[in-house]
Amino acid sequence: MKFEQPAGQNPIDKGTVIGRATPRIDGPLKTSGLATYAYEQWDLPAKPAYAWVLGAAIAKGRIASIDTARAKSAPGVLKVLTAADTKLPGKGSRNTAKLLADGEVEHYHQAVAIVVAESFEQARHAAALIDARYERTDGQFDLAAGKGSAQPDQGTNDSKFGDFDAAFGKAPVQVDVTYTTPDESHAMMEPHATIAAWQGDALTLWTSNQMINWGKQDLAKTLAIPPEKVRLISPYIGGGFGGKLFLRADAIAASLASKALGGRPVKVSLQRPLIMNNATHRPATIQRLRLGADRKGKLVAIGHEAWSGDLPSGEADAAVAQTKLLYAGANRMTQTRLAVLNLPESNAMRAPGEASGMMALEAAMDELAEKLGMDPVQLRIVNDTQVNPEKPEQAFSQRSLVKCLQEGAQRFGWNDRPKTPASRRDGQWLVGYGVASAFRNNMNQKSSARVRLGTDGKVTVETDMTDIGTGSYTIIAQTAAEMLGLPLDRVVVKLGDSSFPVSAGSGGQWGANSSTSGVYAACEKLRGTIAQRLGLDPANIDFADGQVRSGNQSFALADAAKGGEIVVEDGMEWGEISKKYQQSTFGAHFAEVAVDAYTGEVRVRRMLAVCAAGRILNPQTARSQVIGAMTMGVGAALMEELAVDKRFGLFINHDLAGYEVPVHADIPHQEVVFLDEVDDKVSPMKAKGVGELGICGSAAAIANAVYNATGVRVREYPITLDKHL
Ligand code: MOS
Repeated sequence: MKFEQPAGQNPIDKGTVIGRATPRIDGPLKTSGLATYAYEQWDLPAKPAYAWVLGAAIAKGRIASIDTARAKSAPGVLKVLTAADTKLPGKGSRNTAKLLADGEVEHYHQAVAIVVAESFEQARHAAALIDARYERTDGQFDLAAGKGSAQPDQGTNDSKFGDFDAAFGKAPVQVDVTYTTPDESHAMMEPHATIAAWQGDALTLWTSNQMINWGKQDLAKTLAIPPEKVRLISPYIGGGFGGKLFLRADAIAASLASKALGGRPVKVSLQRPLIMNNATHRPATIQRLRLGADRKGKLVAIGHEAWSGDLPSGEADAAVAQTKLLYAGANRMTQTRLAVLNLPESNAMRAPGEASGMMALEAAMDELAEKLGMDPVQLRIVNDTQVNPEKPEQAFSQRSLVKCLQEGAQRFGWNDRPKTPASRRDGQWLVGYGVASAFRNNMNQKSSARVRLGTDGKVTVETDMTDIGTGSYTIIAQTAAEMLGLPLDRVVVKLGDSSFPVSAGSGGQWGANSSTSGVYAACEKLRGTIAQRLGLDPANIDFADGQVRSGNQSFALADAAKGGEIVVEDGMEWGEISKKYQQSTFGAHFAEVAVDAYTGEVRVRRMLAVCAAGRILNPQTARSQVIGAMTMGVGAALMEELAVDKRFGLFINHDLAGYEVPVHADIPHQEVVFLDEVDDKVSPMKAKGVGELGICGSAAAIANAVYNATGVRVREYPITLDKHL
């Protein structure tokens, strides 16, 4: 099915199951420990062996020698593999660095050897006996120093409209500020983990991966085998946040080790201290914002330049993405520059681009509001636009930013805010309020599904879509239930297996709308087949209460499958309509913080997000996504930071003791409000992504609240207490 025209009335609009707050259907399995994660497959073809990944001890240079003799003769050791032993042909099209170093070391903790043993402990012990020698060469590890030689990025186009320099120069009110955001780690709970087993020339992986088909294609490419010979199974994922978009070393190590053992299953879980440097992270940014406004607060010039770094042939963080679209203003420019750094490979982390970009843009807007002596909510409202500011002929499919700000201000009690910074005291605490817009693009991806109507009247959905903790199982079940007029418990959902039709996968908050649209298409086809089987007019048919009705005829749904199970497959893709309208999601974040007047400790007191993202398919799982994202906003604002050792090129804090993330005690009352809207220009589901919207702007709202509390503007994230003392 191709989505070409705004969606008309359809079965989803009934809202019998869709749009209702519904607990996760996979919840009981997860809370009782019965959900099998990648490392927890017990039903394997043979007793598994264990592999340990040895990471490079230098950031850049050459492996001079690896002596594995002692490791090989250690107790329990089955194999010790290096690139020389495996003749690993290459790397996938998405990875920047090789997943097993071949002579040359591209980054610190890049895998250089794989030790396979009968037990995990034996593999770990033997790895310590490997004698690897390196020849170190100089690298660039400092973004500030590499900034001067940064080049235009292939992934993000620079943009220029009107005459920015002239307009900014003449603007009566100007802000010219530079913000920095640090390298950050996905720090998901479940490490990258894989069990691999070969049967003949066919390879099966139980792994933890957000994008099954990308993983399958890239694994085949890396091993130089046909993709049909690779099966990825990833039904449950303990968090990804972008860190599991691409194949990582666990998948390669397990595959190579199993091959070396003649197909015996091999388990690999990347050691926590290896992950920060071996895997991927969100890159640090330097962002210069220049905002020029007239005295009434109308933006006349908007300029945003962003620098980030990656390994050679990597990509920049698209931190200017929202600045192209969020506010009106005739004179504007954005520029994205990429510095070559020899730090570990960088990649998307929850809401790439907008997440870090909003931390700078929305703080700069707060600075502008102060210079104007204007309410920051009002400043955002007067600069709203209903068309793409870079392409005025392109309207937004739907844009309710103003409504979000107004509704949020009212619910939060924004009028009671301290209007002067550092003016409110509660005992030892300085109290402040902050606001920021929320913005994240909506990107749809082609997505397919198979649906089966069984002779028992149950419907089974199969798609390689993943559930990374987001609630995919539940919204997919809700979609099929609504389309076929069944209660939720009559629908079975099977996900995360490359033997199922290729879906959108989980990334970029495209999963919910895209994957349910694919299921919609498959269910629409199934409805047609059912009508045909029952001899009913497909144009005049209703599915409800487990019944199929047309005119005065009525059948039980199961009757259609009397002659045998019905199986159909279809998918959704998007046509020109995706280009005709700019599709984005909007919101408003509000935060109240208290800062200890003596120590500078920041406590977040309450947070509110008002979100506008089309139809909310399941307010319960969507809320859970948004509060998770707001929590990552707290981390980004106040604590998360990979500390770069600029001499040796590695992240020093490489575990969850040294890399601080917010915990329950850091998180106060969080309220999430969804505007009641549907967006008929995005899909028949009329839904957009919302999972990443919650992080885009929340960190800036906190930063603005900290400024409002203290009167000290910290432009270097995270805002740790030392920075405003
Ligand atoms: Mo997301 S950072 O695109 O998984």
